[in-house]
Amino acid sequence: MLPIERIDTAVTALHSEGRFAWEQEPLPDKYPPQSDIRILSLLHFSGNLPNTPIAGVLSTLGLSFWCPPLLSPNISSTRSCFCTMAEMQDSHNEMGLYTPNPEVRGMTCLNRDAFNKTIHVPVIKVKKEIINRLMKSLKHRLIQRPSLKRVIEDPKDEVNKLVLLDPYKVKSIDSFAESDHALFKQFDVSPQVSQYELQLTYENFKCEEILRAVLPKGQDVTSGFSRVGHIAHMNLRDHQLPYKNVIGQVILDKNPGITSVVNKTNTIDSAYRNFQMEVLAGEENMITKVKENYVTYEFDFSKVYWNPRLATEHDRIIGLLKARDVLFDVFAGVGPFAIPAAKKNCTVYANDLNPESYKWLLHNCKLNKVERRVQTFNADGRDFIKTTIKKELLKYANVPSAEEKPSLHIAMNLPALAVEFLDAFKNLLEEEPCSSFIVPTIHCYSFSKDDDPLQDVKARAESFLGTTLEDCSLHLVRNVAPNKEMVCISFQLPTSVLFQSDTGEPESKRPRTAKESKLD
Ligand SMILES: C[S@@+](CC[C@H](N)C(=O)[O-])C[C@H]1O[C@@H](n2cnc3c(N)ncnc32)[C@H](O)[C@@H]1O
Repeated sequence: MLPIERIDTAVTALHSEGRFAWEQEPLPDKYPPQSDIRILSLLHFSGNLPNTPIAGVLSTLGLSFWCPPLLSPNISSTRSCFCTMAEMQDSHNEMGLYTPNPEVRGMTCLNRDAFNKTIHVPVIKVKKEIINRLMKSLKHRLIQRPSLKRVIEDPKDEVNKLVLLDPYKVKSIDSFAESDHALFKQFDVSPQVSQYELQLTYENFKCEEILRAVLPKGQDVTSGFSRVGHIAHMNLRDHQLPYKNVIGQVILDKNPGITSVVNKTNTIDSAYRNFQMEVLAGEENMITKVKENYVTYEFDFSKVYWNPRLATEHDRIIGLLKARDVLFDVFAGVGPFAIPAAKKNCTVYANDLNPESYKWLLHNCKLNKVERRVQTFNADGRDFIKTTIKKELLKYANVPSAEEKPSLHIAMNLPALAVEFLDAFKNLLEEEPCSSFIVPTIHCYSFSKDDDPLQDVKARAESFLGTTLEDCSLHLVRNVAPNKEMVCISFQLPTSVLFQSDTGEPESKRPRTAKESKLD
C-alpha cells in the first residue's frame, strides 16, 4: 500500500527488477474514494515476501510491503486473492517492451527467429574516449538485457558512440536526476535523449520471459530446476508437458554450463531413491561430476540418489564429528556423509543396497583418496546393522581407558523408511559380554506430514525402538513439499534397547555405558 505520489517510483523500481509484474488494486471500502493511498499488488512470485529481491528494491526507496490480513507472509499459495494469472499476463503485455511477439504463444518446437522484435530505446551520444568512465557512473540508467551491447557505433559519427539507456527509467531529458546532470556536466556530455531502433533477438530475452510468452496465457510458468553437474533437473507439471522440448531447450540455451535438461517422470518411489527421467534437451550422458562442501563426487544421476539440497545437512552432521571418530553410514548413497567424514580422519563404514550407488561410492572414495579409511558394503541396511555395526560396536567396547575412545555415529538417511530400521538395534548386543561400552549416537531421517513433524518423528522412532527417548535432538532439515517436512532425530542409542531382551533382562546385567563409567 503506497502513497499515491510514490506509485510511479515503485513502478519504475519494479520494472528495473524485471521479474515481477504488478497491478494497481481498488482500495478496500474502508478508505475514502479520494484517498491518497493506492494498493500496488505484486503478482506471480512465490517465497517469503521480505526475502525477495523486490523487498530490497522497495526498501531502498523507503517503501514497504503491506499484506492484507488474509494473506500469510508466504503468499505464493494465496496470490489468486489479488487477480488471476490471465489478468496479470495482460498487464505484463501492455507494459512489456521486453515481452516477445504474441506469435510465439503455443510454440512446441523452438523457433528462435520468431523472437526477433524491434523496440525503441533512449540513447545519448558520448565521446569515445570517456565512454568507459561514464558507463561506470551511469550504470543505474543503462539498459539491462541479456547479451545486449549497450554501446553502439554510429557509422556516420567518428567522435561519438551511442549509449543505450533503460527505456523504463529514461523517457526524456526530464527523467534524469540532479546527480545525473552533474555527471553529464563533469564529462561534458549532452543530456539530450534520442530514440534508437533496437533489434531484440532470442538472445536478449530472459528464460522466464520466453517461457511466459510461449506457454498458454494464465498458466503457471516455471523455469526452476535443480542443477546436478551438467544436468538441469526439472519436475514439470501436466500443463507444461506439451511444451517440454521448448522448455528444455530454453533452459539449455540460457544457462551456461548446462548441457543436458531432464524431466522427472516418476515420483521418487524406487527402492534406491533414484528418479526415472526423460532427456528434454542436450546430451543423453547422465554421468556427471559435482562438488559439495569442497568434495568432488562422480555418479550416474539416472541410477543413484543425489540431492543438491542436502549439502547443508551433510555439512551439519560432519561438523559433529572429530578426527578418529567412527561413522557408520547405513544408507550411504555415493558418499556425501562417508567421504567428508573420512577426509576428516574418521573411520567410516559405508553401506548401500543399490549396486550402482555402491560402485560410485567406491569410485568416489578413490577419487578423493580416502579408500583406506572407508570400508564399503553392498547390503540391506538391516543386515548391515546386524552384522557390521554389531561387530564393530563390540570391537569398540572393552577398550580400557574412556579417554581413548572415539565417539560412534550412525547415519540413517533414508527418510521414507529409516525409522522402521531402528528396530534392528533391539537386543543387538544381548548375548555379548562387554566390560564397558560406547553408546553410539544415531542420526535418523524421516519425512513427516504431521502438523507437529518433530513430535511425530520422535513418536515413531520411539515406537520402533520400543522405548522412550528422554534426550534427543530434533532438527528440521527441509520442507520437501507443501505439508511434508524432512526431519533428523539424533539421540544416544539407549543401552536398554541394545542389551535388554524382549522378556525384560534385568538392568544390572547390562554393562555400564562410557558416560556412566565417567561419572564414577
Ligand atoms: C535418500 S538416499 C541417501 C543417500 C546419501 N546418504 C545422502 O545423504 O545423499 C538413500 C540411499 O539408501 C539406499 N537404500 C535404499 N534402500 C536401502 C536398504 N534397504 N538398505 C540399504 N540401502 C538402501 C538407496 O540406494 C539410496 O542410495
